[in-house]
Amino acid sequence: MIAGNRTINYLRISVTDRCNFRCRYCVPASPFHVIEHERIARYEEILRITNLACELGITKVRITGGEPFVRKDIFLFLEKLCAIDSLKDISITTNGSLLTRKKIKNLISLGIKRLNISLDTLNPVKFAEITGRDRFDQVWESILAAHELGISPIKLNTVILRGINDDEIEKITALTLTYPFHIRFIEYMPMGNSAVEKQQQILTDEIKERIESKFGTLMPVERTINDGPAKKFHINGAKGIVGFITPISSHFCSTCNRLRLTSRGTLRPCLLNNYEKDIITPLRNGASDDELKDIILAALKKKPSFHGLTDQSVKDMPISHMTSIGG
Ligand code: 5AD
Ligand code: SF4
Repeated sequence: MIAGNRTINYLRISVTDRCNFRCRYCVPASPFHVIEHERIARYEEILRITNLACELGITKVRITGGEPFVRKDIFLFLEKLCAIDSLKDISITTNGSLLTRKKIKNLISLGIKRLNISLDTLNPVKFAEITGRDRFDQVWESILAAHELGISPIKLNTVILRGINDDEIEKITALTLTYPFHIRFIEYMPMGNSAVEKQQQILTDEIKERIESKFGTLMPVERTINDGPAKKFHINGAKGIVGFITPISSHFCSTCNRLRLTSRGTLRPCLLNNYEKDIITPLRNGASDDELKDIILAALKKKPSFHGLTDQSVKDMPISHMTSIGG
């Protein structure tokens, strides 16, 4: 599938808007409603849409949430997803709190070998402050278990906020000296009325400077065709990689190869633009495969050439919050 001059081969599927965490940069500060159960796309509906998207050129899928592992029977769904022949790459973004050794082994036996896990701090007290849950130990154990069992790469997503966890930039980076993890510092995106203040946002240049003054010059890692938006580096002698995801300071829209399917059954061509195309209603009303494919293509036609988060004129536009889109 083509959008402008971009080839779209990557579908991110949010299987639920629910999450057992309340990360302050993610969930809205004011009370919010979860989506009613009957509006959530059923597994068979997601699989039908995914199959059609694969016929149109999708080869790569990432499962996101909310937290994917809070959804019932997720493994039955993953089994069916992994049976789609044309899918070459399936990965999952999770907060890691519900992963057990048994579940990790099941993922590996399904052929899922890549995980992205959120980790913003190495301090259990701060972990509880950021995520609203006292679960640091479980998450860290899951990360180590995934490593021991052979998940690779393990990407750790870190959102640094001034006054909250900016004192841990060096400590988190130092994990790459011991483990082959990819630490990815993601710039905070102001979305959906989170509790984070604009002044708490720290941009990549500042984080990079802090890392270089402690560990020396970061050496760029050569890009491969499967690389996402992270700009990757390593510190001298490290086993792992330090990456920066810069949606704010330098947007990567011109190379964005993604389409999103939300848990409400809408297609969202851009994370940072509220346009969504409903595909679940036509599907439930009996649309044919060809009609559904036309809907997927029509959604992609609306993929903007760049997002407006850095543009003053649209700064105040409330972007839907992350749990409802899936990151
Ligand atoms: N800005 C940047 N990253 C975010 N995430 C969630 N909300 C935001 C936000 N507002 C990231 C977290 C998590 C992933 C699912 O999305 O790092 O790992
Ligand atoms: Fe849940 Fe992930 Fe959002 Fe945290 S960032 S509240 S773990 S969906």
